[in-house]
Amino acid sequence: MNAPVTSPLTATSTDRLDVAADFPILARTVHGRRLAYLDNGATTQKPEAVIEAEARFYRESNANIHRGVHWLSQHATALYDAARETVQRFINAADAAEIVFTRGTTEAINLVAQSWGRDELRPGDEIVLTTLEHHSNIVPWQLLCEQTGAVLKVVPVSERGELELDAFDALLGPRTQLVAITHVSNALGTVNPVAELTAKAKVAGAVVLVDGAQAVAHQKVDVQAIGCDFYAFSGHKLYGPTGIGVLYGRAGVLAAMPPWQGGGDMIRTVSFERTTYAEPPARFEAGTPNIAGAIGLGAAIDYVNAVGIERIAAHEQALLAHATAAVGGIPGVRLIGTAAHKTGILSFLVDGIHPHDLGTILDSEGVAIRAGHHCAMPLMTRLGIPGTARASLAMYNDEADIDALVAAIHKAQELFGTRSRP
Ligand code: ALA
Repeated sequence: MNAPVTSPLTATSTDRLDVAADFPILARTVHGRRLAYLDNGATTQKPEAVIEAEARFYRESNANIHRGVHWLSQHATALYDAARETVQRFINAADAAEIVFTRGTTEAINLVAQSWGRDELRPGDEIVLTTLEHHSNIVPWQLLCEQTGAVLKVVPVSERGELELDAFDALLGPRTQLVAITHVSNALGTVNPVAELTAKAKVAGAVVLVDGAQAVAHQKVDVQAIGCDFYAFSGHKLYGPTGIGVLYGRAGVLAAMPPWQGGGDMIRTVSFERTTYAEPPARFEAGTPNIAGAIGLGAAIDYVNAVGIERIAAHEQALLAHATAAVGGIPGVRLIGTAAHKTGILSFLVDGIHPHDLGTILDSEGVAIRAGHHCAMPLMTRLGIPGTARASLAMYNDEADIDALVAAIHKAQELFGTRSRP
């Protein structure tokens, strides 16, 4: 038997994942201060390897894909296809053809709504969502309901920000056609038990879409283990470029779906009488795609793999525990979202200071957070608050960033005259 492997990352000290030097932007100052970038839920910073992969593509390999007989086009096509395979392995899809490149999570969800949904849904059919959803996993379904006569059913959440699982069970029924759930809440960090929810939805005969935008950079994702039909995520929250994202679709489901946009590259034959369509994934990638973005996303996944997603998760969990104690321990601070299972997202309110004012003062101290409703207005309404201040972690954050956050909150309380002295 092998000796047990102990990782320094399981220790309480959290600044051992020494990767910040790989991210050039982290060396810059903001308002003359060291940058503490804690807005990773909005977008992550990019390692040099990703910046270089995109630049190298334009310097050395740029051509359009799937069209040219010339060497450069074939070379660009090979790089694009290799990126698709990198994504496939990263989320353990069964086949690279199950990976559709999109502009991001939002476009991936809209693709499912408009291609799968318009064909499948009838008046009175039900779509089950949760109160934790981002607007991008609400509004596309509302548009679809207007088009088809389907209706939304919403799973409630507890005060701590956890789904009420009994209510989920009760909402599933013979009219449930689709369950669309977030893997991780962008506003609170709650991790939903998506495999368990998917299994229940399958018993009810529903198709399942998981919004993985806030999950893939923070924990191992295995779409076959989850068992979902669709899984959507964005490149830019995974250390990759903006404007590139992924829709994973189970082969059997994708094969039965009609195109959602028409154009070049998604057809087999075109005549004025009749057009036939390409097999997935090409059927869903009309027009010239974001070739450099896909290659940059592939480089980002290579980078994450080199660091190790389990090490990243352990580092962020340790840092979240530290930040929860440090920020939650400040008199006058209330943590919003205290689920038992969370990723590195810390939402909070400071007595007497509006989150936007807090965000502005923190910014002047070099601390970047997001303030507001986080594109989750129904969740804020449920919690009875207009918004929160949100610090969200990534692999390069360390205790110095949390120290800067705590000091800046103290500064804000001093400015507003609300700081209690010990
Ligand atoms: N959805 C992103 C966030 O939560 C933009 O900040």
